Amino acid sequence: MAKKLWGGRFKKKIDKEFFEFQKSIQYDYKLAKYDIYHSMIHIIALKKAHIISANESERLYSALKGILEKIKNGTFKPSLYSEDIHTEIQNGVEKKIGSLALKLHTLRSRNDQIAFDERFYCKVEARNIENFLSAVISSLESLGNHYKKYSIIGYTHTQRAQRIYFKHYLQTFQFMLTRDKEKLSNFERSLVIYIGAGALKGTSLNRNYYNKAINDFLKFHPVLSKEVKFSENPLDNVSDRDFIIELLTILSTLQMHLSRLAEDFILYSTKEFNFFSLPEEFCTGSSLMPHKKNPDFLELIRGYTGRVYGNLIALLTTMKGLPLTYNRDMQLDKEPLFSSVDIIKEELKILPKFIKKIRLNEDTIEKSLQEGNLYATEIAEQYVRKGTPFKKAHDIVGKAIRQSEKKNPFFTAETLQEAARSLLEKEKQRNRVVHLSK
Ligand code: ARG
Repeated sequence: MAKKLWGGRFKKKIDKEFFEFQKSIQYDYKLAKYDIYHSMIHIIALKKAHIISANESERLYSALKGILEKIKNGTFKPSLYSEDIHTEIQNGVEKKIGSLALKLHTLRSRNDQIAFDERFYCKVEARNIENFLSAVISSLESLGNHYKKYSIIGYTHTQRAQRIYFKHYLQTFQFMLTRDKEKLSNFERSLVIYIGAGALKGTSLNRNYYNKAINDFLKFHPVLSKEVKFSENPLDNVSDRDFIIELLTILSTLQMHLSRLAEDFILYSTKEFNFFSLPEEFCTGSSLMPHKKNPDFLELIRGYTGRVYGNLIALLTTMKGLPLTYNRDMQLDKEPLFSSVDIIKEELKILPKFIKKIRLNEDTIEKSLQEGNLYATEIAEQYVRKGTPFKKAHDIVGKAIRQSEKKNPFFTAETLQEAARSLLEKEKQRNRVVHLSK
């Protein structure tokens, strides 16, 4: 077990199994970079308040920078014996510069650090997901352009409805994903990253010191968002996880959209529909049936929807009824958050490659577009334009469908049009006879 950030008031050693049960390093190491940012701002504030000297601040800062380098180049290996990422970084600084590290945590609480780190993570990841989404949206657009002149069957109730442009069909998904992108961008732009809440009520390290520290820090780290602010209401800052719930909500809707796309593409690639050929590189086979080409990528997207919804429900449930302010229950917000972010990023990373390689089975589509029913609505509309009331036109075309179907279940638009024309003609004659006999 590594050194802990607490312990003075305890006489007994922590139970080993309980320690394992309560530690979070195995997942919160993902916040390492943001936790270093917190420490950097914090020590500048400590220096401004003359709690540590300029020299001490420099030594602390460069130790932190060393760890940050490792995080950035992928060589940071957190010890699984640490309780959490905050402890791990504290111990890492101590390893580098000795007892001066003990000043790092002056007037600070992990409750403030974790809220800062998670807000930062959400902001950065929302931005990353936005970028991934842009690539998916443009891959849909290029597939649509590739088949610009092509039509497919449009469905309602999974029943053949009307002929539609393939490009128009794909645009539906582009619209859904663009809405998700806008939500992410609003979320990410309005998310404020707070610092200085202490455990719950703030500390004597006040607004001025922190504001100056934030300004100094942002000068050297322009990559950071400008929305780092001194805690407005520290009680709220350490209690609030709304921003995670909000992100998980946006991701749930996004996942639902991906799942609908996946379901459509699975359906359209079946022998029964046979509109799409899916790229082989993203399909798998069967160990028993030699002929199988299974759409596993799309099935897994559809399947992961359960996980992504579950992650949102898990956090909503964890937060329900929590007394103010921070409670350890809230540590459990991380796995659902990381899980949804990772799932969505992986899906979005693969999707553009997959979408670009989808091919339309032009012959099957051409044949399926011969079906007369697809044009029934347009035929009714033609009569409306010639003055027939819509209800009447609807009825005539309906009867014409019944008649045509009796002769041949696969009738064409021309057959239907002809049947409707002769029905209407007969009816006109009948009306004339009735009129004359009166
Ligand atoms: N691991 C904790 C979490 O993720 C960090 C905050 C711990 N605070 C505390 N007072 N034990 O929520």
